[in-house]
Amino acid sequence: MINKQEKLAVANFKMNLSASYELKHWLTNFLKAKQKARLEETKLVLCPQITYLDQFAKKIKSRQVEFGAQDCFWEQKGAFTGAVSPATLYSGGAQYVILGHSERRKYFGETDEIVAVKIEAALKASLQPIVCIGENAQEKRTGSSLRVIDQQLKKCLKDIGRGRIEKIVICYEPVWAISSNDPDHLPEMNEIMEAKLLIRKILTDQYDRRMAEKVRIIYGGSVDNKNANEVCVEPGMDGALIGKASLAPYDLIKIAEIIDGQ
Ligand code: PGA
Repeated sequence: MINKQEKLAVANFKMNLSASYELKHWLTNFLKAKQKARLEETKLVLCPQITYLDQFAKKIKSRQVEFGAQDCFWEQKGAFTGAVSPATLYSGGAQYVILGHSERRKYFGETDEIVAVKIEAALKASLQPIVCIGENAQEKRTGSSLRVIDQQLKKCLKDIGRGRIEKIVICYEPVWAISSNDPDHLPEMNEIMEAKLLIRKILTDQYDRRMAEKVRIIYGGSVDNKNANEVCVEPGMDGALIGKASLAPYDLIKIAEIIDGQ
């Protein structure tokens, strides 16, 4: 259910926790850490590799935790060897799906056009898309960050009508700031705010202000428990997409608490 007040701490495990002992260790520690967690208006969204989805959904039963996938295909079923259907994800316990992540764009050739059709398919299957946009290092250097955000967002949302926009979460994730790209600094608070304001403005122009305000805009890129306040809370983001730090359950919960304002 959409609730403007509900913020999101989205864990993107990527292709990690691969060995079964790592997974077991993570789940045990998460369940321990979760017992002490104080979250009032923040939801944790755990996005493991899809083969683990079922295990996560069965082991973690909490009002404050939901599940997601890291990608899906644009068709619901049929002869598409190796692809994963949004409908299958939904029936396997996912409520969200990350789409357009920069690693999908880089290694799997995903374009904004592909992201747009995947958004459509995800919504059809009742999944809430978490759509990643953001400039790369070269675009940042040439001062094109806002232009890139503008183009990506408009292309990704081109077919989404008024009634459905509130189901989408937008993640501003500067590609250069992702931990695996070894950033030597993170975006300044005013840069994150600028990106957020631009996204809100595009949504307001395309839909209307009331609709635009229902869309959650989160930040991604090297979020940890030391910088979460600076990159998420202070710029007024509605949550975070968390990669590396999500592999440590206590850190993940701490970040969620910071986002929650605890
Ligand atoms: P990071 O990853 O937190 O390790 O930078 C975030 C992401 O790529 O979604």
